[in-house]
Amino acid sequence: MEPISTLEICNLSISISPPNKILDNFNFSIEKGKTYLLTGPTGCGKTTLFKFLKGIIPLFYPAEIKGTVKINSNSLNIEKFLEYRTQIGYLYQDPQLQVIGTTVENDLAFSLENKGYSREKVIENIQLLSDQMQLNHLLERSPNDLSGGEIALVALASLILEDPSIYLLDEITAFLDKTSKENVLNSLLHLKSKKKTILIISHDIESYLPMVDEIIVIKRGENIWNGNPVDFFSTNGEKISSLVNIPIFYKLQSNSINKRKDLSFKDTLSLLKGGEL
Ligand SMILES: Nc1ncnc2c1ncn2[C@@H]1O[C@H](COP(=O)(O)OP(=O)(O)O)[C@@H](O)[C@H]1O
Ligand SMILES: [Mg+2]
Repeated sequence: MEPISTLEICNLSISISPPNKILDNFNFSIEKGKTYLLTGPTGCGKTTLFKFLKGIIPLFYPAEIKGTVKINSNSLNIEKFLEYRTQIGYLYQDPQLQVIGTTVENDLAFSLENKGYSREKVIENIQLLSDQMQLNHLLERSPNDLSGGEIALVALASLILEDPSIYLLDEITAFLDKTSKENVLNSLLHLKSKKKTILIISHDIESYLPMVDEIIVIKRGENIWNGNPVDFFSTNGEKISSLVNIPIFYKLQSNSINKRKDLSFKDTLSLLKGGEL
């Protein structure tokens, strides 16, 4: 099977309980090495899109699927598309489900042992990644005793060791503190430098902005806007701003009130509190 360089989905509609469509004529395309941020209101279909890309829909959820999928410009039927799922790594919104080892180290070793790596190579790989992600203090712990944020970090580390070409990351930083979030963002930057394709679902546009190539805004199962971050902020009309969290620096920069240089931090803060910025 050839590596995925481009993946296009055209007019994708998915119904799990027809006639309600979760995705409705959804269009989207990705290129190897780029990072995409998918955002939009809760329930708009973001996780459903990931489940489809990973083949969980239709493998585990019977669904009515319409539309076309092209990989490297070749149109594929669903059976053929499902063969590519091995190149795709998916980190669930609730990663608890993926933790299986008795210690974090065993858990991390699992995918490498499955690949037939020697014991030394397994330990070396885990050590390298644990240093990079600052996970060393967690290695001897039981996955059952970890906090939600710690599990998210371990699950990401486990996925990185699996080494897929495309990463689907579903709200993985939602419960992380500043340091853990920085660890995740640094790990993602490292993956990006290795030309991995990264799809991120998040409401936190601000944190991911430095590494994102394209932002996709979804509303009720449709891709209603996509483009680069610069266009995102310059064309930020009502349609988008009412649906997503606009970073505060942008509000401050773009709002005419703030062009008044005499505003103190305290005044700015009270304008923010009053909803005037
Ligand atoms: N297995 C399912 N059966 C029926 N409806 C579902 C199922 N999974 C999700 N949905 C519905 O599809 C919509 C989109 O869900 P989801 O993709 O999880 O949204 P998001 O990730 O954007 O919050 C929601 O209205 C949700 O209730
Ligand atoms: Mg979701």
